Amino acid sequence: MRNKIVGMLKDSSGPVSGEQMSRLLNISRVAVWKHINHLKKSGFEIESTPKGYRLVSAPDIPFPWMFAGRSAKIHYFPEVDSTMDQAMVLARAGCPPFTVVIADRQIKGRGRLQRKWQSQAGGLYFTIVLRPALIPTVCPVINLAAALDLVETLAQCCQVRAQVKWPNDVLVDGRKIAGILSQMEAESDHVAFINIGIGLNLNNQPNDTDIPAVSVAQLTGGHADRVRILNNFLDRFENRMNAFSQPDIIEGWKQRSVTLGRRVRVVTIRESLEGLAIDLDEDGGLILEQADGSRRTVFYGDCFHGN
Ligand code: BTN
Repeated sequence: MRNKIVGMLKDSSGPVSGEQMSRLLNISRVAVWKHINHLKKSGFEIESTPKGYRLVSAPDIPFPWMFAGRSAKIHYFPEVDSTMDQAMVLARAGCPPFTVVIADRQIKGRGRLQRKWQSQAGGLYFTIVLRPALIPTVCPVINLAAALDLVETLAQCCQVRAQVKWPNDVLVDGRKIAGILSQMEAESDHVAFINIGIGLNLNNQPNDTDIPAVSVAQLTGGHADRVRILNNFLDRFENRMNAFSQPDIIEGWKQRSVTLGRRVRVVTIRESLEGLAIDLDEDGGLILEQADGSRRTVFYGDCFHGN
């Protein structure tokens, strides 16, 4: 109900009367008044005028009730060590798929390959718990799917043209705007859960990590609406996972790739490989053509772009 009230206030150019809200929402005037008071306590600035209520400002806080249809599965914290840890506890306790842990700030945000992920206020930091009926080897493809949907969300909500870098970064003109970290628990051929953690630079001033970083606010000069962006991404990603098509994900990723066609160096814990990134295989492995013409497929590692 609060979501609908905020929606009505946001959509209206002028004040909205309590009577109008009570009629359209089919609740009493007193109920409207109680919701308005609750919103004010949550940080919404709402002016009461003789013609009705007017929204002056809304806090940039992802309250669970702002996620229509999924509010019971949203766990919001102003601050946590890492959303990965919270999601792990929930997943092991049997939470439903598409449970999401969101934090405004992380004290111990983690990146891939033991790196830290700076998580100052203004960014979007969240982890989604998935329970796909898929075999464990499909995990890299799910990361590619998340990267692909981040690109589409950034285009639709922020008019930012991003691309995907293998294995699972999202870049704008060579600068990192989002990173993805996944954790899986599996028993032989059965995935218990896969947690997908995403850090998206929106209104923060990100520090450079493995490569230079950038945020939406730095690119557009405007304020990015975290709730709208997260809603858009979750809808896309949930639809994509429900209609899971590995070939479609691979094809979509290739079309938005900034890695294919480049000379790259891929560093894994065992070796360092150099070559021309010529293709992605059906499981999300990067196919490299080495100097001697031989081909190698790599499934994980740090990828550095040459030219
Ligand atoms: C990377 O590019 O190295 C991956 C970064 C992933 C960061 C996100 S922020 C939300 C979630 N919680 C974490 O501690 N890490 C991931």
